[in-house]
Amino acid sequence: MPANLIKKDVITALAARAAGLDQPQGNPRLKQVAARLLTDLMVAIDELDVTMDEFWCGIAYLTQAGKQNEFGLIVPGVVLEHFLDLRLDEGERRAGLAGGTARTIEGPLYIAGAPISKGEARLDDGTDDGEVLFMEGQVRAVSGEPIAGAIVDVWHANTMGNYSHFDPTQASFNLRRRIETDEVGRYRFRSIMPSGYACPPGSQTEKLLQAMGRHGNRPAHVHFFVTAPGYRKLTTQINIDGDKYLHDDFAFGTRDELIPRVERITDAAEIHKAGLNKPFARIQFDFTVTKEAAGAPASIVAREHAEAA
Ligand code: DHB
Ligand code: FE
Repeated sequence: MPANLIKKDVITALAARAAGLDQPQGNPRLKQVAARLLTDLMVAIDELDVTMDEFWCGIAYLTQAGKQNEFGLIVPGVVLEHFLDLRLDEGERRAGLAGGTARTIEGPLYIAGAPISKGEARLDDGTDDGEVLFMEGQVRAVSGEPIAGAIVDVWHANTMGNYSHFDPTQASFNLRRRIETDEVGRYRFRSIMPSGYACPPGSQTEKLLQAMGRHGNRPAHVHFFVTAPGYRKLTTQINIDGDKYLHDDFAFGTRDELIPRVERITDAAEIHKAGLNKPFARIQFDFTVTKEAAGAPASIVAREHAEAA
C-alpha cells in the first residue's frame, strides 16, 4: 500500500475520541497523554505504511514481553531510561542545581529492604570465589560538608552477572546492602567484583536487540541509591574500568564521571592487613548530593519494585 493514506486531522480527531477527550469524566492527564501517543502511533503507521502483519507482530511481541515481565529490561535497552535521566538533569540545571554526582539509570533489578548496617558492611556471602573488592568513600553536600547518617543502598551482580532474587541460586539479599554513613559521612564495604550483565538468553529483550543488530551486554557495574534527609535522592552506578563494554553499554548507563580508578593490591603486607590471602581490588568513590530546591523535578521516583520473598 502507499504511505500517507489518512489526513493528519482525521487521525488527530480519531485519537481525541479514543482518548475520551470529548468526555467530561476520566483522568485529564491520562487522556492528554493517550491522545498524543495514539496520534503519533497512527501517524507513524500511516507514514511508514506499517502492514497489518507487522502491526500484529508488534502486539504479539509486547504481549509476550508483558507475560515475561520484561518491560523493565526493554526500557533501558531502547534508551528510554537514559532519556528520562537526561530530562531530569536538564530540569535540575534549570532549577539552579549543580555540583552533585552524576546520576544514571536505576535498571530493573533493585529490591527494597536490604539489610542495613552502620558505617560498613560485607555484601557477599562468601560463596562466590570472585576477586575481593573493597569500596569506600564519603557522602558529602555540594558545600563539601560530610553527611553523617546518609543511606548508601548498594546492589550489584555476582561473577556470573546475575542479581540475587532474580537468580534463585543466590541467597536472599546477596550483594545487596544499605549502609548508613558514620559520623564523618563515610561508608565502606567488602564485596566481590561483579561481572557485566547480559540480558537473559531467549528473552524478548534479547530478540529485539538482535533484530536491531545490537548486543545486550552491560559493563560490570555497581548500583547505588544515596539518600539523606534534606537532600535529593541520588540514583547512580559506578562502572568497572577496563570492561569490554565500558563504552558500549546496551542500557546507555555509562557516564565518564562514573568510572573510578580500580586499584589492584598485590603487596603481601597490604593483603595480610586486609585479612586476605590473595590480591584484591580497591575503589575509592565519594558521592555528592544536592539540597532539595523549590521547582526542581522530583528525584524520588515512584516505581514498582519486585518484593523480596
Ligand atoms: C538492565 C540490567 C541491569 O543490570 C541494569 O543495571 C540496567 C538494565 C536490563 O536488563 O535492562
Ligand atoms: Fe545492573
